[in-house]
Amino acid sequence: MTIGRLEKLFRLSRPAMQAIIKNFRFEMAAGLSDKKSSLKMIPTYVEMPSGREKGKFIALDLGGTNFRVLELTLKGAHRSGEPRIMKFTLEKREINGTAEIFFDFIAESVKTFLNKHKISGAEELNLGFTFSFPIKQTGIASGILISWTKGFAASGVEGNDVVELLKEAFARKGIRNINISALVNDTVGTLVAKSYEDPGCDVGVIIGTGTNACYPEKLPEIKKWKGPQNKSGRMIINIEWGNFNKLTSTSFDRRLDKDSDNPGQQILEKMVSGMYLGSITGLVLKDMAAEGNLPLGLIQPLVKGKKFETEYMSIIEGDSTAGLKMTAKLLAGFGMAKTSAADRRVLKKVCGIVSRRAARISASCIAAIVLKIDPRLSVKHTIAIDGSVFEKHPTFAANMRKALKDLFGLKHSRIKLALAKDGSGKGAAIIAAVAAGAD
Ligand code: GLC
Repeated sequence: MTIGRLEKLFRLSRPAMQAIIKNFRFEMAAGLSDKKSSLKMIPTYVEMPSGREKGKFIALDLGGTNFRVLELTLKGAHRSGEPRIMKFTLEKREINGTAEIFFDFIAESVKTFLNKHKISGAEELNLGFTFSFPIKQTGIASGILISWTKGFAASGVEGNDVVELLKEAFARKGIRNINISALVNDTVGTLVAKSYEDPGCDVGVIIGTGTNACYPEKLPEIKKWKGPQNKSGRMIINIEWGNFNKLTSTSFDRRLDKDSDNPGQQILEKMVSGMYLGSITGLVLKDMAAEGNLPLGLIQPLVKGKKFETEYMSIIEGDSTAGLKMTAKLLAGFGMAKTSAADRRVLKKVCGIVSRRAARISASCIAAIVLKIDPRLSVKHTIAIDGSVFEKHPTFAANMRKALKDLFGLKHSRIKLALAKDGSGKGAAIIAAVAAGAD
């Protein structure tokens, strides 16, 4: 594989992006009607916030190995106080253990938080639970895990109501004053948190370890919705776009998928998110070395089973030193001791090719959602985006903007991509407030 061939293989031209938009919109419509679709289009029972929500709430934000417990005060009038936050880390024991081990650890962490912040058992509080996996919501505070993503594997959770499992763990740990009043996806939390302050925000996106998006949809458009009408006539739909599969894959994508723990699923996520981008780059590097286009020594650590992390791509692509010195240092630490500046330049190119495709796929899907909401792009839209890849990768956001420009020309400025850091916890608190009637 030469750089030239690789570039061609991973290139997403304007017509290719337009094809993604068309297919994505088709799959959105099918998913809303309960027809066969790679997009689950899950009704979340959540409406957009009014900005008037008030009170003190707890949020539990879990979507990866690191999770957070927060306490947040909403002041109404589109404002909130500084949250108090504690971070915890799930280990293999919990991720690969049983439902009981998993939820006991979470309940124990909530208990640690309550003790640390001296929240007494006499104070009744509502909790918003952000659980960022594909959940079939059965109510605002109930939902069944359809399947684990992002490498999680605890047994006895798939097919069960995660709020019930958390409630049982709270009971085992003697937590009696916390009422779980909302179950929320991180994209939904991100959208709600941003639109609490900015009413022009109508799409929530995560591009981190995993990737996904949500938006408010009109109830009559949600053909499969059998529930009652609501106040606003709209409901936020969790698209679960990570599973979108109408994309042109390369042999690298297919290899990565085959060796993953969920083959055939989360195809877009495997081309875009932080959990996989580094692995794709690793596969490309191995291939190039095997064909003599890179020195074999360069890939020794990869051959020995080390993972080429997505963070490396951020460092390498952000390296603007002459001779790519930061890259040299990073590679030496990784075990690739002797690299030439020319090899490092090839490496930087490879990383750029892989991450650019990811950014253009994400932008195309955002374009599809915005066009579903506003087919003529007649008003401005803020897209609230969180996640390590969007936030930390040096060219990702710019590549997304460039893709939108390629698609829409001057009108691209009507779509504003805004970093919405740590919104998922805050959003869960706002949703808990709505559910508890604190509006
Ligand atoms: C995965 C999950 C999805 C979540 C996303 C971002 O795709 O299935 O629910 O929103 O990761 O964390």
